Amino acid sequence: MATYRKSSKPFDLLNSSTNSMVLVSRRETFSASHRLYNPTLSDAQNAAIYDKCANPNGHGHNYELEVVVAGPVQEATGYVVDLKKLKSIIRREVVDKLDHKHLNHDVDFLRGQIPTAENIARAIWNVLETRITEGRLYAVRLRETENNVVEYRGDR
Ligand code: NI
Repeated sequence: MATYRKSSKPFDLLNSSTNSMVLVSRRETFSASHRLYNPTLSDAQNAAIYDKCANPNGHGHNYELEVVVAGPVQEATGYVVDLKKLKSIIRREVVDKLDHKHLNHDVDFLRGQIPTAENIARAIWNVLETRITEGRLYAVRLRETENNVVEYRGDR
């Protein structure tokens, strides 16, 4: 059985795990429309691959985005990352640019890409990777429907 002694350093127990990595995640939501369509293929080929998702006028989703940051717990704050700051970065750099937009036309960082959940998650990663300075970006998880979710963890 462990015995606990009084110490002149009251946080000894906590500091024993300072170097372990902790994952912290922030959830944000946005609504956007898109059309899954590869312009290098025929309409028939697009219909065969994307079915209703290739309908000419597009359709919408309520997306759920989870941004996961990994790192050691900073001794001074007890945080891996200040979630208030992480929230502002995600909203400014990603959510404000995607929310109520058409992903095929309106978003600089998606230009030239078929806006599948896979491509959106990877593009979000590329936007956030250099902007997150406390901890490091560990995963971008994007839920497009109740049942469909993708996760990107960078090129490793
Ligand atoms: Ni869709």
